[in-house]
Amino acid sequence: MIDFWLGGQHHFPVDVAAANAFEQAYGPCAPVFGELRAFLGRAVREMAEQGVDGFLVFGAGVPTMGNVHEVATEATVLYTDVDPVTIRLGQSILAGSDRAGYGFGDATDIGTIDPAQLHRFVPGWGRRPVGVVFLGLAAFLDDATLTRTLDELYAAAAPGSLLAVDFDTEELACHPQALAMMGPQFRMRPPAAFAPLLGRWAPTADGIVPVAEWRPDGPPARVPDAFHGVLATRAED
Ligand SMILES: C[S@@+](CC[C@H](N)C(=O)[O-])C[C@H]1O[C@@H](n2cnc3c(N)ncnc32)[C@H](O)[C@@H]1O
Repeated sequence: MIDFWLGGQHHFPVDVAAANAFEQAYGPCAPVFGELRAFLGRAVREMAEQGVDGFLVFGAGVPTMGNVHEVATEATVLYTDVDPVTIRLGQSILAGSDRAGYGFGDATDIGTIDPAQLHRFVPGWGRRPVGVVFLGLAAFLDDATLTRTLDELYAAAAPGSLLAVDFDTEELACHPQALAMMGPQFRMRPPAAFAPLLGRWAPTADGIVPVAEWRPDGPPARVPDAFHGVLATRAED
């Protein structure tokens, strides 16, 4: 669905049908997801400018339309997800790349990632600073799981690593039919409730803000504040 909204080529008729049904309940989604992907781009560019040359991406979805390896063009990138169809699609898209790979990875348990893939595409994991991309995932994890997961990532990543993370705000609650489509496990959070979940990860001075307002390249786009995002750093021990 996100690939469809971003104008990509890697989706199926069932995705288009679901995207159209969601838009009937919510309104246009392309601008909202465009801003979310633009936030990914600006955050990844910032990480690369700080010297990060290896990225680990959780809940990656379809690895195209301005995704991490297309932004950080010198870096190596491991995309991970739990959905077998997404993983197979990602692997076929990246088959010709020697810089980006795709494999299974449950974000809540980094031990599920194939160590060979991890060390190939995120060399020095745990020893040198890397970029951790955790976008579009928080809504599917309860507070306790998210807190534990982010803390385990903090412990596993080397000092100097950077984390890009976002979450769904309560804006979707204004669209009850659309909210119902997300299922009972879908979690929205007010920004003040998200900050403590970051644990030891320290937000940059940009803070936790609507994604369109995170270091915008020009005047921020006027889109619903459906997602807030933050870039956070892992301090020295
Ligand atoms: C809303 S999509 C976000 C895709 C992409 N990150 C983006 O922001 O456009 C959520 C993705 O997270 C994946 N996912 C859900 N639970 C997960 C988990 N525990 N670990 C890893 N991926 C998960 C889903 O399969 C799906 O591809």
